[in-house]
Amino acid sequence: MNATQPSSLVSEIRALKEKRRAVILAHNYQIPEIQDVADYVGDSLGLAQQAAATDAEVIAFCGVHFMAETAKILNPNKVVVLPDRDAGCSLEESCPAQKLADLQRTNPRFYTIAYINCSAEVKALADVICTSGNATRIVKAAPPDRDILFVPDENLGSWVVEQTGRPMTLWKGNCYVHVEWTHAAITRIRAQYPNAPLVAHPECTRAVRVLADEVCSTEKMVGYCRSSPADAIIIATEAGMLHRLQRECPGKTFIPAPTDRCACNECKFMKMNTLEKLHDCLLHLSPQVELSPELLARGRAPIERMLKLSALD
Ligand code: 13P
Ligand code: SF4
Repeated sequence: MNATQPSSLVSEIRALKEKRRAVILAHNYQIPEIQDVADYVGDSLGLAQQAAATDAEVIAFCGVHFMAETAKILNPNKVVVLPDRDAGCSLEESCPAQKLADLQRTNPRFYTIAYINCSAEVKALADVICTSGNATRIVKAAPPDRDILFVPDENLGSWVVEQTGRPMTLWKGNCYVHVEWTHAAITRIRAQYPNAPLVAHPECTRAVRVLADEVCSTEKMVGYCRSSPADAIIIATEAGMLHRLQRECPGKTFIPAPTDRCACNECKFMKMNTLEKLHDCLLHLSPQVELSPELLARGRAPIERMLKLSALD
């Protein structure tokens, strides 16, 4: 057990997990204490795959709300709890389902690809879901005779356009954390550590991505850093990632990329979850994700399409 964890709380969480026959899934941006008690820590794609495969009776989802909703859509008959119901996402907020439906009506040839960072209502309007880990593959698999509408992250979308050469209509949403990194701040840190490669999340702006040695999902960052010969690597993504990387690559130094205005590389939504709240949601089986039968049914096909396409190699 990690020495920094309040051990009695961790023991209680483990006991409750057994009692509830629960699995704890945690995103790479969760606080270290939650990562250390989780059964699985990973990116949005890995978490969706774990949720699809689990035989646990209860899923305690430590991430943000849309991730827990995805787990519920994949497991309509299981209980899905989350430590804090208010853990949202600026990308999800940027794309109300009604506005998307209005836009879809303007072009019957639209094929809608929704980044997983969106509400269940938006997922239900999509043809297929993608994550940062499989967006390129999902776009390449889109029917060639359709016009792709990519929602809601314009930065991930423009990166995929660069990767695939496929034009897409992009929804104007962004991650309020990842757009904080600027070309100037990254140029300065690169000059300070000239031998350190830069790894950036595709939610960063193009001005930052062009400076990166690798642009990838949080889980692919682990693979890149493990196999890189460099002993110091600059990381442009949410700060929780540093704990995961340090755990996986103990001999290496990870340098958090600085922003210009502040040390604002923490997602306030991801950081709403605490060990205490995880304990309480397992104890009370609340808050739970609840979705209407109609949404559960309509949201499932686009997620399953993504999982099927991601399994092909
Ligand atoms: P990943 O799927 O790469 O972990 O990204 C999720 C996310 O919310 C990034 O801000
Ligand atoms: Fe959403 Fe950005 Fe937070 Fe990820 S880091 S959950 S995209 S607000």
